[in-house]
Amino acid sequence: MGDSTGDLTVLEQSAIAIISTSDKCVCPDLQLSKNEGTDVNTKVIRMEEERLDRRLLREAGGIIKAGGLVAFPTETVYGLGGDALNPASSRKIYAAKGRPSDNPLIVHIADMEALDAIVREVPENARKLAEAFWPGPLTMILYKSDRVPYETTGGLDTVAVRMPVHKVAREFIREAGGYVAAPSANRSGRPSPTVAKYVAEDLDGRIEMIIDGGDVEIGLESTIVDLTVPEPMILRPGYITKEMLEEVLGGVEEDCTLMRADSGQAPKAPGMKYRHYAPKGDLTIITGDVAAVIEYINEQLDKRRLAGIRTGVIGTDETIGCYHADVCKSAGSRAEESTVAKELYRILREFDDEAVEVIYSEAFDESGIGQAVMNRLLKAAGHKVIAVK
Ligand code: TXA
Ligand code: MG
Repeated sequence: MGDSTGDLTVLEQSAIAIISTSDKCVCPDLQLSKNEGTDVNTKVIRMEEERLDRRLLREAGGIIKAGGLVAFPTETVYGLGGDALNPASSRKIYAAKGRPSDNPLIVHIADMEALDAIVREVPENARKLAEAFWPGPLTMILYKSDRVPYETTGGLDTVAVRMPVHKVAREFIREAGGYVAAPSANRSGRPSPTVAKYVAEDLDGRIEMIIDGGDVEIGLESTIVDLTVPEPMILRPGYITKEMLEEVLGGVEEDCTLMRADSGQAPKAPGMKYRHYAPKGDLTIITGDVAAVIEYINEQLDKRRLAGIRTGVIGTDETIGCYHADVCKSAGSRAEESTVAKELYRILREFDDEAVEVIYSEAFDESGIGQAVMNRLLKAAGHKVIAVK
């Protein structure tokens, strides 16, 4: 898949499925040879939030103004930036990612004044949320103005807008002219990058520059809330939780597809229907009492290993020592679930690097940022969940 062919594997519709090693999901674009379609010399620069380099920021901004692409750090995940008001730039983003062109991009801004030009109006609720959570990991869906090309919004009359808090991101956006369209900086179907190394792995040779700002802080993409519907609705959970939004707005709804695949409905954020974040190995989530989960997973691991299959486990600091997998990874401590958010995508990528074929994961508490963790983990597993007693 060279560019936007739109044929990614769509999320399976079964909420609970029986383990099968033969129904692995490998997204078509992952089968590309590493250098296919790469012809740009990608310059990598290093920049900390504490040590902004104005000259390099201007150079990065100049690339965007000239219609090129620059990957940059944000507090959530790395973004792949292009000029949001230039249709050709948005087309380039889709091509570089191998992303279906009906999957709209988020427009990143650096100042509140920038918002007026790209939306039809700023409703009261948007002002309240901006005041509470911007700059920060919140994306709002609003009606777009004529200045935003349909190439950026995937043909929709609405636009997703976010003002990141990361200093490098904001200064870069300013130098780039104020409007940077940026999806996560991964090849379509792969986990979003939380370090620059993974951006390079996916996009080296396809984009003009990567700004390496070190590890991101949160590790999962922003919360998306739709303000074009009568009741504000969460389309993607993230660090800003339902409770936090409700404190500001009162009632907030949730897209019913977030945590289940059997609702019979399509997710309201077009990008959420794709089987994102999937490792190459076959991932299943096991829920239930901790001791029963460990016992069940170990039984399965033994069977798989006897069959010569390379196995992996995602556990926690408290449990990881109990498993007999070839590759065991702790996502952090249950006592502090934000660490799980930060480690999840790195772990999923590492299983690929280590050629793991079958992976079992413990489930995580769905409160707070845990809902976002489980939303991404369920997607990565194609909603394969087994409950044990
Ligand atoms: O944290 C983040 O949001 C990161 C960083 C780079 O800012 N960006 C990111 O972008 O995650 P992306 O493209 O990977 O995800 C954007 C999501 C997709 O699911 C897309 O379908 C949805 O936002 N989206 C964008 N515009 C939309 C719109 N007008 N209506 C509904 N969903 C929209
Ligand atoms: Mg993404």
